[in-house]
Amino acid sequence: MAVRDSFDLTGRVAVITGGAGLLGVKHAEAIAEAGGVPVLLDIAADRAAEQASALAKKYGQPVHSLGADITVPEQVEQALAQVLEMAGRVDILINNAANNPKMESQDGKQWSRFENFPLGIWNQDIAIGLTGAFLCSQVFGCAMARQGSGVILNIASDLGVIAPDQRIYRQPGLPDEQQPVKPVTYSVVKAGLVGLTRYLSTYWVEQGVRANALSPGGVYNGQDDAFVQRLTNLIPMGRMADKDEYKAAIVFLVSDASAYMNGFNLVMDGGRTAW
Ligand SMILES: NC(=O)c1ccc[n+]([C@@H]2O[C@H](COP(=O)([O-])OP(=O)(O)OC[C@H]3O[C@@H](n4cnc5c(N)ncnc54)[C@H](O)[C@@H]3O)[C@@H](O)[C@H]2O)c1
Repeated sequence: MAVRDSFDLTGRVAVITGGAGLLGVKHAEAIAEAGGVPVLLDIAADRAAEQASALAKKYGQPVHSLGADITVPEQVEQALAQVLEMAGRVDILINNAANNPKMESQDGKQWSRFENFPLGIWNQDIAIGLTGAFLCSQVFGCAMARQGSGVILNIASDLGVIAPDQRIYRQPGLPDEQQPVKPVTYSVVKAGLVGLTRYLSTYWVEQGVRANALSPGGVYNGQDDAFVQRLTNLIPMGRMADKDEYKAAIVFLVSDASAYMNGFNLVMDGGRTAW
C-alpha cells in the first residue's frame, strides 16, 4: 500500500465520545479530512448536532451526531444501534469525553484540593473519564470484534504520565489552603486510560481490533497570560499546543498508517515529559 493511501479513511465510521467539545470537533475534522465518517457522540445532544451539521457543510460529506450519556450502559447500547442505523458499521472508537469541573471555591473551601476532594466529584469524574471509556469499549469494541476489524483510541494526557506541577495553578493572594490544584481524578483517569489501552490492545488482537492512546499536552484556548507563562516554562518548545496540532496524529493512529502499532501511548506534549 502506498504511504499516502495508508492514511485514507474512506468509508470508515468513527465514533468520537465528547464529540461536541473543543478537541472532539477537531478529531471529527481529522476523520472527515481523511475521507472517513465521523459520529459526534455527546451528552450535549444539541451542541453535537450543531457541530455535525457545520462539519457536514464544511466538508460536503456525511457527519453524524447523537446524544448519549456514556456512563449509562443502556444509552451506550442504544448509541451503537443508532450508529449502525445511521452509518451501517463502526470501525473506530475514540474515547475522548471527560468531565471538566471548574476549580472554584465553594463556601470558602477549595474543593479541588486533595484534603477536601468530594467523593461525589471523584465518582463523577471516574464515571465519565474511565467507566464511560470502559462501557464504550465494551459495546463498540464488541461490534468491531464481531466484524473482524477496528481501532480504539483513548485520549489520555501528558498528566497520565507525569504528576501535575501544582505551582502553575496558584492564584495570587490566596492562602495555601484555598489554592486551587489540578484534581486528583485527572491523573487517575488518564493513567487508568493508559492501562485500559494496554488491556484492550491484547484482548481482541485475534479479532483484528487494536488499541492505542494519545496523550496530548495542554491546548491554548484563551487561558490567562500568567498561567500560560508558568505552563510554557515547563515545556521545552516554549508554547502550548494549537487545537489543530493533534489532527494528523489522530489520522495516523486510527488509520492503516499505524497498522502495526498496538498498546502504545503516543505522548505529544512539546517535550514536556522529556524534561
Ligand atoms: N484541552 C486540552 O488542553 C487537553 C489536553 C490534554 C488532554 N485533553 C483531553 O482531551 C479530551 C477532550 O478535551 P476537551 O478540551 O475537548 O474537553 P471538553 O470539555 O471541551 O469536551 C468534553 C466533552 O465531553 C462531553 N461529555 C461530558 N460528559 C459526558 C458524558 N457523560 N457522556 C457523553 N459526553 C460527555 C462534554 O459535553 C464535552 O462536549 C479530554 O479527555 C481531555 O482530558 C485535553
